[in-house]
Amino acid sequence: MDDQIIDNQPVSPILVGLMGSGKSSIGRRLAVRLKLPLIDLDDYIVEQAGRSIPEIFEQDGEAVFRRMETGALRQVVGSHAVIATGGGVVMSETNRHILKQHPPVIWLKASPEFLAGRIAGDSNRPLIAAGDALEKLQELAAIRYPLYEQCADFILPRGDMNKTEALQAILDFISVFRKG
Ligand code: S3P
Repeated sequence: MDDQIIDNQPVSPILVGLMGSGKSSIGRRLAVRLKLPLIDLDDYIVEQAGRSIPEIFEQDGEAVFRRMETGALRQVVGSHAVIATGGGVVMSETNRHILKQHPPVIWLKASPEFLAGRIAGDSNRPLIAAGDALEKLQELAAIRYPLYEQCADFILPRGDMNKTEALQAILDFISVFRKG
């Protein structure tokens, strides 16, 4: 098989990482380059629920949101698409199991310090809407870094790269991944 044919092997990357790491925006660019649709799991949940994420958290609580998230993940994995997940997707063992069964999973790894400036005061992110964003991100990173690592086939050092470099690094990885 020559490189051209190998580069056409179907691949459906799933992006994970803390909020603000660029899963949606890099996912959008990645989808264009791979000529695939982008499925943004948060948008998918919002569409199905007919409510915003802050509304779901406020009216039903985080546990209900997490159940919706697992349901949505089950529905979209296996689609030939780029999938951008929400930052907390790895908190559930069921979700981690699903992710492990659908490689490649790409972790956009960024420090809480890098992320805090990007998302501080974002009212669409209930987990950091109140209180100190950096402190909350540090708390989340301590819990979630090992979980992202468990699921990831590729770790992108997001904090060291701009979006263009990040996209190229992911494309390079995908090219290697396709060759098995
Ligand atoms: C969450 C991240 C959000 C969204 C929800 C919970 C989290 O997605 O799913 O607010 O637990 O980190 P983004 O990572 O796209 O902000």
